[in-house]
Amino acid sequence: MLEKTDSEIELLRASALLVSQTLAEVGSLICPGITTHELDVRAEEFICDHGAQPGFKGYRGYPNTLCTSVNSQVVHGIPSRDAVLKDGDVVSVDCGVILNGYYGDSAYTFEVGNVSESTRRLLRVTKECLFKGIEMATQRNRIGDLSWAVQQHAESHGYSVVRDLVGHGIGTNMHEKPEVPNFGKRGSGMQLHKNMVICIEPMINKGRKEVVEEKDGWTIRTKDNEPSAHFELTVAVGEQKADVLSTFSFIEDKLKS
Ligand code: MF3
Ligand code: CO
Repeated sequence: MLEKTDSEIELLRASALLVSQTLAEVGSLICPGITTHELDVRAEEFICDHGAQPGFKGYRGYPNTLCTSVNSQVVHGIPSRDAVLKDGDVVSVDCGVILNGYYGDSAYTFEVGNVSESTRRLLRVTKECLFKGIEMATQRNRIGDLSWAVQQHAESHGYSVVRDLVGHGIGTNMHEKPEVPNFGKRGSGMQLHKNMVICIEPMINKGRKEVVEEKDGWTIRTKDNEPSAHFELTVAVGEQKADVLSTFSFIEDKLKS
């Protein structure tokens, strides 16, 4: 049974909201000159202050609280004292928590200082891809309908979809069934059911879709070194529309002020 009970969904919502708030706190610190290590330290503190634990640290040996992936790094970038953010960079910050036994997992790609118009467009379209996917997260659709909607939006803007990593179900484990690819065919894949809880996380490249793993054994980056963007939210599949458990509103309210 991939469906969660209503009370499990409330627990997952609490976890999702805590990651959303953690990302807002991290986002408020992002500026040219800060290191991704400093962001990681603050995120861990924030999570622990709220009675939770980092969700990524120790997961398959992953060393940190955040994944911080800069420019052509797609995902799973390891925070580092040497990684100083500079004007014009973009950084995907991916964060997980465990609160009351349930995982939260969300990601947002932030601009550092003044970013080129073409890269800002990549970020905008990638976020739109995520919301196209969310619109499809109803019991009327299959996974392939959602995947298709994401792919179609990205490719119609001349971007490419990373194939090597996918979204996923979430619960008392960070990665549960089903897999949620960001590319696919309409009408294919598993039927969605009300109360399935999934993380939708398009990874969209400005250039070609191919990625490589860096020597650290974690960081995934684009083969052509062109920038990539990544946004992730958690939703409960609904009858008519998805119930979005995490939110970018804390982040975006803070960025505006
Ligand atoms: N947010 C990532 C995902 O959705 C998880 C990061 S992998 C970890 O798959 F090892 F860093 F935890
Ligand atoms: Co995820």
